[in-house]
Amino acid sequence: MKNFDVVVIGGGPGGYIAAIRAAQLGFSTACIDEWKNSKGGPAPGGTCTNVGCIPSKALLQSSENFEEAGKHFGDHGISMKDLAIDIGKMVARKDAVVKQNNDGILYLFKKNKISFFHGRGSFAKAAEGGYEIKVAGAAEETITGKHVIVATGSNPRALPGVPFDEEKVLSNDGALRIPAVPKKLVLIGSGVIGLEMGSVWRRVGAEVTVLEALPTFLGAVDEQIAREAKKAFDKQGLKIELGVKVGEIKTSGSGVSVAYTSAKGEAQTLQADKLIVSIGRVPNTIGLNPEAVGLKLDERGAIVVDDECRTNLPNVWAVGDVVRGPMLAHKAEEEGVAVAERIAGQHGHVNFNTIPWVIYTSPEIAWVGRTEQQLKADGVQYKAGTFPFLANGRARALGDTTGMVKFLADAKTDEILGVHIVGPMASELISEAVVAMEFKASAEDIARICHAHPSLSEATKEAALAVDKRTLNF
Ligand code: FAD
Ligand code: NAI
Repeated sequence: MKNFDVVVIGGGPGGYIAAIRAAQLGFSTACIDEWKNSKGGPAPGGTCTNVGCIPSKALLQSSENFEEAGKHFGDHGISMKDLAIDIGKMVARKDAVVKQNNDGILYLFKKNKISFFHGRGSFAKAAEGGYEIKVAGAAEETITGKHVIVATGSNPRALPGVPFDEEKVLSNDGALRIPAVPKKLVLIGSGVIGLEMGSVWRRVGAEVTVLEALPTFLGAVDEQIAREAKKAFDKQGLKIELGVKVGEIKTSGSGVSVAYTSAKGEAQTLQADKLIVSIGRVPNTIGLNPEAVGLKLDERGAIVVDDECRTNLPNVWAVGDVVRGPMLAHKAEEEGVAVAERIAGQHGHVNFNTIPWVIYTSPEIAWVGRTEQQLKADGVQYKAGTFPFLANGRARALGDTTGMVKFLADAKTDEILGVHIVGPMASELISEAVVAMEFKASAEDIARICHAHPSLSEATKEAALAVDKRTLNF
């Protein structure tokens, strides 16, 4: 039997990054992952690489290019005849991007001398000085680990009684490989996936309706930012109905019908070619056999961990989507690194207050720290400063002036408490705010830093200046 210092179960961003860090720290390390590519071969990288972050961003880019060419190139004097999009090619390109990432992770396993097992890992029993893990699949064997890191991720949540068939009722998986533009597309849930996938298919020509149960749009986002984003989505023709109660869903040869009650209490039915259900995700421990060792799960099926990702079992750790906290790839990665460092006796640390969020729509939405509504609820005295991209030279040159940067700072100390951005390249701009908050910077610190001109980042500086009511360009 092969013995390892560290066995990682799951090769998504939580698992493969934990394995790399453990190997860097000198541990003999194994990583087990069961994801298969279309040929049955290994496809490490988890949800993120295969059916999540990476493929969705590939499709978002292709569809945005198409929309730019069709709607905005004319503004630059560029004329196009017979503009068309080949959906098969768009999806094939996405698949190629995914494969590059799968191959990259396999290369990283080799480079770091990590033993990779392609199969399902499950707890067999607690053994002398560790745990026996059975691997089943392409690799069939039992290995032992002194430490085990569980990083088995999450699965899409289905509506009760409406299983995913990936033909008409799609999860994120099917949503990323629709073979032709559906004429009518309905999405249930206007969260992150609903908005990103709804944008992709709207841009390439689908008539998209998003049905959301909650009466507020993007409740976790700063209200002012969410309002601004909603205005932009409305203008683009992305129909979002809030406060609905979804009723019966029926599939037939011609498509799918979705009955619902609107916020006004009216009974409605939508006919669509495809339905995407994006109502959140559930932690995944299918096949892990946690009972064999008494690994504790909570009522949601998440593995119970403390602040440092320790489970109820000695030397068994869990990270990423399978534990509490936001279901984000970078959160999973940070936890993976921190656990490997803790195993090595170091002080791995994850700051949950500075984890950025990004929604990759157009405009992009990104934030870190607390929202204005949270500060009010917490009774914190704060100052707010905003700066619109309309007044930013680079945004004008880009032809994309939607949105703003918003700073929230402590009224007395000026410490930055939250930064919220809706607008072009918000995903990249937010990094400055994350660094600032990690270093406990004040709004004035950012306002005094020289930012390149012309750049979108000047809007960040100006929003910091706005906290002190002294913007220069607005
Ligand atoms: P996963 O990535 O789910 O990986 C778990 C891996 O473990 C899988 O490969 C699975 O096959 C394997 N596994 C499970 N059980 C076993 C077992 N018993 N034995 C062996 N292997 C097993 N997050 C972002 O931060 N940014 C984004 O832009 C973003 N976009 C997303 C878009 C979509 C459409 C979706 C669905 C998600 C997106 N996410 C995004 C979320 C992100 O994908 C997850 O937070 C992240 O993948 C979690 O990483 P993880 O390692 O915990 O789990
Ligand atoms: P989500 O939690 O973002 O949104 C789900 C939405 O569905 C919510 O607005 C919720 O109110 C609504 N909803 C729930 N039940 C409903 C019902 N019965 N009828 C109508 N609406 C209902 O979940 P989503 O979009 O499925 O994404 C899952 C997770 O994946 C995200 O929370 C995020 O962690 C991750 N993700 C991250 C991305 C990013 O970082 N850019 C992109 C995509 C996903």
